[in-house]
Amino acid sequence: MANLIVLGAQWGDEGKGKIVDLFSERFDMVVRYQGGHNAGHTVYIGETKFVLKLIPSGILRPGVKAVIGNGVVIDPGALMTEIESLEKAGIDVRSQLVISNRAHVIFPFHRMVEKVSESREDRVAIGTTARGIGPCYEDKIGRRGIRMADLVSPQGFEHLYRMLAEDKMTLATAFKVSEVIDFNAILAQYRQFTEKLRPLVRDTSSYVNAAIKAGQNVLFEGAQGTMLDIDHGTYPFVTSSNASAGGACTGAGVAPTRINGIIGVSKAYITRVGAGPFPSEIPGEAGDRIRKAGNEFGSVTGRPRRCGWFDVPLLRYTADINGFDSMIITKLDVLDDLEEIPVCVGYEVDGKAVTDMPATNEEVARIVPIYEVLPGWKTPTKGITSLDQIPTKAMDYLRFLESKTGVEVGCVSNGPERNETIIVPGSKLATLLG
Ligand code: IMP
Repeated sequence: MANLIVLGAQWGDEGKGKIVDLFSERFDMVVRYQGGHNAGHTVYIGETKFVLKLIPSGILRPGVKAVIGNGVVIDPGALMTEIESLEKAGIDVRSQLVISNRAHVIFPFHRMVEKVSESREDRVAIGTTARGIGPCYEDKIGRRGIRMADLVSPQGFEHLYRMLAEDKMTLATAFKVSEVIDFNAILAQYRQFTEKLRPLVRDTSSYVNAAIKAGQNVLFEGAQGTMLDIDHGTYPFVTSSNASAGGACTGAGVAPTRINGIIGVSKAYITRVGAGPFPSEIPGEAGDRIRKAGNEFGSVTGRPRRCGWFDVPLLRYTADINGFDSMIITKLDVLDDLEEIPVCVGYEVDGKAVTDMPATNEEVARIVPIYEVLPGWKTPTKGITSLDQIPTKAMDYLRFLESKTGVEVGCVSNGPERNETIIVPGSKLATLLG
């Protein structure tokens, strides 16, 4: 067994929640390393649907430790709601959940700042999840943020809070924000959260490192996807953290040398929520069909996801950035009914082949995708549990993705349930999972 990172190879929503939940049975600890309650991991266990936004889905396995690392930004209200709903379902959250004392705290005024920035006429709206994620990370990088250690500190919190609140009041005045923000009420509310959260807060880097030294197996769970990474994604249409594999080390306080494998999760097609260029986007009715078949609506905001064909150059790019050892293809069954399946195998801009991912959105928007069209299999694959039952043409499709991206397909997911997953025997992933 090993310490693995599982993360999104596209623009998020690749189905990581189900995969992490499934794999977590084999791990002692699952660590979330970035993002906040902008992520939504949907996990079905029988008839029960769990939407986890902040807490790693490993929490659904009795005894598995769920760690929220220092790279995550935490809205204590959202966290409390999630804890309460899991407890209602009988999960022993308090013995399984550990929260980093270095994780930064989101306040309601972060959402106010985001609203101002998203609605400015002279700026392009990013189409964020409106959870205050970006402004909280701004305060972190601006070295004025408040961390969980400050929040639970009996002395320090009020002073830091008043200073941060003063900044936001100045901003609200400058931007003529009409919304009334009751800074004292927020302070009182956050003090209540503190009492409940304090027992769960600790130095998670030392906690995770101690577990690794003791020979435990740790799974690092990414949120969003590599194309939403603040450095490597389609900036500025990205989230405000490092969703790529490097973020696991900084966001959990664990050295790269402790990581034994990096697994990319990708849909059999591709989706994106929010604004920004999307080379293989499927226009019109064909896109609507995939959206319907794949139920492609955001689990956090309910927004319809934009759908596209599998994009090989994009996957090659994210495979390089992350160093994928293996790739998991999810939602294969969504393509079951299609006569033909185009796959984007190359990019052209102004009639010239492009091999590097362009840095500007203006260039990405001008990409002309080059497609190869593969025959569909027109046979249900949902619920198939062994590779030899997969229709030949579906296997050809998977082999095609593998040969074009240069990354093995180590696992196929063909339905939302835990058992609707096939780990490819003999794959590197199967070896890593032990
Ligand atoms: P933010 O993370 O709320 O700041 O939003 C920035 C961009 O990332 C927007 O395009 C969002 O739609 C996108 N985004 C954030 N979280 C997720 C996610 O979990 N899945 C897919 N897109 C996301």
